[in-house]
Amino acid sequence: MASRLSADVLVIGTGAAGLTLALSLPRHLNVFLICKGELGTGSTAWAQGGVAAVLDKVDSVEDHVADTLTAGGGLCEPKAVRHTVERSASAIQWLIDQGVPFTHKDGSEVDYHLTREGGHSHRRIIHAADATGRAISETLIRQVRQRANVHVLEHHVAVDLITRRKIFPNEGGDDRCLGAYVLDTRNDAVITIGASATVLASGGASKVYLFTSNPDGATGDGIAMAWRAGCRVVNMEFNQFHPTCLYHPRAKSFLISEAVRGEGGLLKLPNGERFMHRFDERAELAPRDVVARAIDHEMKRLGADHLLLDISHKPADFIRQHFPTIYERCLSYGYDMTREPIPVVPAAHYTCGGIRTDLSARTDVPGLYAAGECAYTGLHGANRLASNSLLECIVYARAAADDLTAQTLPEFDADRLPLWDESRVSDSDEKVVISHNWDEVRRFMWDYVGIVRSDKRLERARRRVHLLKQEIHDYYASFRVNSDLLELRNLIVVAELIIESALSRKESRGLHFTRSYPQTSERAEITVLSPRTEPSQSA
Ligand code: FAD
Ligand code: SIN
Repeated sequence: MASRLSADVLVIGTGAAGLTLALSLPRHLNVFLICKGELGTGSTAWAQGGVAAVLDKVDSVEDHVADTLTAGGGLCEPKAVRHTVERSASAIQWLIDQGVPFTHKDGSEVDYHLTREGGHSHRRIIHAADATGRAISETLIRQVRQRANVHVLEHHVAVDLITRRKIFPNEGGDDRCLGAYVLDTRNDAVITIGASATVLASGGASKVYLFTSNPDGATGDGIAMAWRAGCRVVNMEFNQFHPTCLYHPRAKSFLISEAVRGEGGLLKLPNGERFMHRFDERAELAPRDVVARAIDHEMKRLGADHLLLDISHKPADFIRQHFPTIYERCLSYGYDMTREPIPVVPAAHYTCGGIRTDLSARTDVPGLYAAGECAYTGLHGANRLASNSLLECIVYARAAADDLTAQTLPEFDADRLPLWDESRVSDSDEKVVISHNWDEVRRFMWDYVGIVRSDKRLERARRRVHLLKQEIHDYYASFRVNSDLLELRNLIVVAELIIESALSRKESRGLHFTRSYPQTSERAEITVLSPRTEPSQSA
């Protein structure tokens, strides 16, 4: 049975961005917070290394800004970088106030331990051992559960945003977002959630690649929904590949934190030889794009299916204390990292591009905000600096909450919104189409739109995306929705946005490396796609 709910603010996603936002809104607002699975199943809970922030006396906003701009390869928006970094210390204080148990320095109850990661000129990463995301997620979830004004709907998948012009084409006014259609996956019913304001906090899209460090839900739903609703997206060609995921048939998606290299871990070839100094003077602590490309190059040169990460020269107690989660997980797969190197491969890790937002997290569509990995704020440019992502989630979720708090939200009657119409669809008789197309997209994205690209590869991917898009569109129009179909429908949109953005960049820069244009142009320009002019909106 279709039904309607009404909210002041609808938040789609319960990672660092969504939870921070819900907790930062005033208690008189009626907030609905939805997520695909259970609370805590996004990327946030998997984050290991920590959060970058200016916390040490020897560090400075200037240095953190400079490191972010350098990693970003000339494409960061300096205003956004400064805005974020200036708020880093207060974002961390807010997390501490919520109760996040960050790791202290040995023997201190006051000072926090700061670790190091690639591209940072200082120890700047505050962390909770090697499971920072889990600590943040569990703490914020505990707080959210105590908020009477926040209604959590688990197992609810947003299908599409509701915009005024689509629903009421004959009425004037702006093309506001009025909420979303949402599938309750426990009973397969699509409900209508009307909202004065809607926030996308739906995470990234790295699941578009065959190998990824991300959890299953990272299918770019928010980016695809915002695109269909009329938002511009920016820099979708910049997909970050993390250099070191554990290579083991059962270790699906398990990341070996960059902090392992930050604390002295060395990358080695299968014969035990180090190689990173041949690619960059910063060796293992070069930014991620450099390290991932170097590993990719060496694997291809040697025909190796993995390389090695070795920290076994450090004392065993040090390793177990700093990396308890990674140590235990590796041990469960038969690798004792205190005694031997770990096999590693690069994997898709982070979506640097996303929905264009301003410093208050507003999108192009009135009443619609975006925060966290689904958003493009201008912070990351052509390559995200390690541990700047959780920081961005907190800073921009708080900015969106401030913006929402400062305004009188428009009143509207949710009962006027139409219910979900299933009168023209039936149950699918060929679910294999969904699973087959899922595999196909992820495989051709990995093969043709991965760490090293070329026009020829991108054109191949473009041809395939066009075919699949039509097939998925026809399927969506004919059959009742389920979460696999919804994710696939979003994945194909994101794949197309990545391919089109990559094809339009006639240079190599940051995370986008193409053999067709190996040089970096003198002019640095962001890639902006607009749904009003570029790839057709079907699917
Ligand atoms: P997520 O935490 O991914 O949450 C997304 C939410 O949206 C989920 O609740 C999901 O259910 C929901 N959702 C998505 N689509 C829908 C839909 N259609 N309907 C309803 N709900 C939906 N960054 C750092 O800064 N430091 C680190 O140390 C670090 N380590 C990482 C380690 C790993 C293994 C990974 C994968 C990432 C890491 N990152 C790190 C990146 C960082 O964790 C993420 O960028 C960040 O957590 C994203 O937070 P988010 O709130 O935007 O989204
Ligand atoms: C890591 O711990 O290596 C991940 C850090 C990040 O993605 O920012």
